[in-house]
Amino acid sequence: MMRVPATADPSLGETVDSGAPPALAAAGITVRFGGLTALSDVSLEVAPRQITGLVGPNGAGKSTLLGVFSGLVRPNSGRVWLRGEDVTAASPRSRAARGLARTFQQPELFLGLTVREHLVLAHRARREPARMWRDMFDPRSLFRPSKIEKERVDGLLELVRLTRVAKVPVAALPLGIARLVDVGRALASDPSVLLLDEPLSGVDMKASENLLRVFEQVVVQADDPLSLIIVEHDVAAVLALSHAVVVLDFGERIAVGTPEEIRNDPAVRTAYLGDSEPLARTSTATASLAPPVTDVGQQA
Ligand SMILES: Nc1ncnc2c1ncn2[C@@H]1O[C@H](COP(=O)(O)OP(=O)(O)OP(=O)(O)O)[C@@H](O)[C@H]1O
Ligand SMILES: [Mg+2]
Repeated sequence: MMRVPATADPSLGETVDSGAPPALAAAGITVRFGGLTALSDVSLEVAPRQITGLVGPNGAGKSTLLGVFSGLVRPNSGRVWLRGEDVTAASPRSRAARGLARTFQQPELFLGLTVREHLVLAHRARREPARMWRDMFDPRSLFRPSKIEKERVDGLLELVRLTRVAKVPVAALPLGIARLVDVGRALASDPSVLLLDEPLSGVDMKASENLLRVFEQVVVQADDPLSLIIVEHDVAAVLALSHAVVVLDFGERIAVGTPEEIRNDPAVRTAYLGDSEPLARTSTATASLAPPVTDVGQQA
């Protein structure tokens, strides 16, 4: 097992638990699709308990990089580490078992189940994978979770702010709430890294605010360190949410730093705007990271 070089990227800030390896690291990632270079020598480090924003114009390589992390895309060169362990050759499944989780743009939910049943299923899938299939064909057992399952799922519901819609069938939920169910599903596996590809796309402003608050809270409240990597087109939202931001353009990492550094980075402004105006300081969606949104139930 090869360890990550301790130095890989000091610009990404100090790890909270100094001495602990990065939650995720990548070095020298290059991906070619035929003649197209989707990623060119990209490196980054994500510290434990850190939210890292990954931004860049369309086609910059953001989703490809998430694919390299999750194991769906094989890089032509470069390495990936999870908590210091080289997983470059590991399958998506094996990376998931080592603490990597992701959400989906169109959450893949079992439409007949309620929010709570979904989370019971997700919770079991991690601990008793064989049982999951039985549960899917005999969903009545999902209505009778054990005491421990119930406690854990109640905690998850609280964390992703879905307690009030726990009994609602997921088929009846708007996309913004379905995304929260998907976040809860991903968190049920106790990941150390959660990958979010455009979690705000297609949801209205109020639902965006709610999602952003949940992302903040899950990192703060996680017992074991949890890091998020979020790809999102709402750059102002990413700048407001993230501890560190990585900017890709045409497959190259053109900037990395704190949100403040990124806002003032001339190369970033050129890539986004073709001029040198500072990036927006606030977004409509994140002006909100202040007031809590408590009426999730009304949106269901
Ligand atoms: N499987 C693939 N085969 C061929 N080309 C691909 C494949 N996946 C991505 N690409 C190309 O690689 C480049 C990077 O794509 P990617 O989807 O990673 O960009 P992105 O930053 O996520 O863009 P967007 O903001 O539009 O989602 C693009 O030019 C895209 O067309
Ligand atoms: Mg993409």
